[in-house]
Amino acid sequence: MKKVLFVASEAVPFVKTGGLADVVGSLPKYFEKEEFDVRVMIPKYGMIADNWKEHMNYKTHFYMDLAWRSQYVGILQMEYNGITFYFIDNEFYFSGSKPYGFIHEDIEKFAFFSKAVLSSLPLISFQPDIIHCHDWQTGLIPVYLNDRFKNGDFFSHMKVIMTIHNLKFQGIWDIKTIRDMTGLASYYFTPDKLEAYGDANYLKGGIVYANAITTVSRTYAEEIKMPFYGEGLDGLLRARENSLRGIVNGIDYDEYNPEKDSFIYNPYNAINFRKEKIKNKRALQNELGLEQNDKVFLIGIVSRLTDQKGFDLVSYIMEELCQEDIQLVILGTGEEKYENMFRYFDWKYHNKVSANMYYSEALSHKIYASCDAFLMPSLFEPCGLSQIMSLRYGTVPIVRETGGLKDTVEPYNEYESTGTGFSFCNYNAHEMLGAIRYAKYIYHNKKREWNKIIDRGMAVDFSWKQSAGEYAQLYQWLSE
Ligand code: ADP
Ligand code: GLC
Repeated sequence: MKKVLFVASEAVPFVKTGGLADVVGSLPKYFEKEEFDVRVMIPKYGMIADNWKEHMNYKTHFYMDLAWRSQYVGILQMEYNGITFYFIDNEFYFSGSKPYGFIHEDIEKFAFFSKAVLSSLPLISFQPDIIHCHDWQTGLIPVYLNDRFKNGDFFSHMKVIMTIHNLKFQGIWDIKTIRDMTGLASYYFTPDKLEAYGDANYLKGGIVYANAITTVSRTYAEEIKMPFYGEGLDGLLRARENSLRGIVNGIDYDEYNPEKDSFIYNPYNAINFRKEKIKNKRALQNELGLEQNDKVFLIGIVSRLTDQKGFDLVSYIMEELCQEDIQLVILGTGEEKYENMFRYFDWKYHNKVSANMYYSEALSHKIYASCDAFLMPSLFEPCGLSQIMSLRYGTVPIVRETGGLKDTVEPYNEYESTGTGFSFCNYNAHEMLGAIRYAKYIYHNKKREWNKIIDRGMAVDFSWKQSAGEYAQLYQWLSE
């Protein structure tokens, strides 16, 4: 039996700011229980809901040095859906209204977390063969493991995987502060290790010291070796390309299931969607105060509102798009300029545009189920889960051909009658508008073709089965 520890800054259902939480919370369920004991470790944030906290059990605590301070480390434990979750407790670092987002605090918070994770393992008697780290917040784990934990039998056989969910975020701060805080020797702060462009870089450290590196789609694994997507680390990723591979994300097919989803208005499946899905559209139009109209082309967006997601393209053609016979529902939070842009168009075209600038699990499911199409024109996209959720709900994705969007959405080909969605290549607003208009044309004028696109989309299997198998192979290979 191989033992694997997932370490990350978030996991559903406890805390989620994006797709990372979906992955960390759902993937562990999909390994063969006889072969793998997969557990998860995340911080115990103050903002985790009380109904979860009530079910956590105190396991142990100890004190650990970080810089000049001796810090309390509590370990809590909880079983959820057959998986053991551990929570690292420290109120100094993990209270606060959001899990993270202020880099000057986060940099110390996750140095603490990374060291605490390793320090706690002997005390909870869990000795993983593989530590599977996710994103920059855990980048110091491979570094610490190489440094002070590698002497001694307990840690000596452990291998580390670093999974990059988003190369944009690296955890960067000045060398002196990081050196003093982490207690790592000057030896580590050179360009072949943690130093990058004059600063210390957690993710870089993780990439340098991990035994294997993965990212969440094949195309993104290729893209990040080039300067445009490489975020300054493309050289390092080229140097480590033999240890780098892309494994595409799946989604939780129990949570995202149009037949059983209690968030949506009316259940349906791949056989009866032609009759039943429309009831969701009617209900959503009603709930959001849009014009009641079965025929209008209803486009959905559920997203963090950041540049990554291509919203400058949307802003650029928004007025033009609103002249068309369409409706647009947006659910998202993020940069103020985009929130305000959507609010403005909601005000101007109230029966066509519905801007919902907040976070809601329930409304997100309703949008995946109710819309005709789902728009995701990302500048870059390591994987993207929203387009996979849309496919699962028979809502046709319109995407830009980058990263995981390219790997999961097959563009419609009208001559061969193939494809599961619509796409465009260049980062260009009118190319995007062209793809939207083309989708709308097929929707209105070739309804049978449109429904066949949905048939094919709902038939593709993006449950974790395939990808969990690829991770399992990697675990086996590394631990042999
Ligand atoms: P990213 O992780 O880059 O934000 P993904 O597509 O991988 O993008 O995952 C986004 C996840 O967050 C999806 O589960 C999506 O439904 C969810 N999500 C994003 N914004 C919201 C919101 N405002 N309300 C509810 N869910 C949201
Ligand atoms: C990141 C990426 C997104 C990916 C998610 C889960 O947030 O932006 O593309 O789907 O991680 O891997």
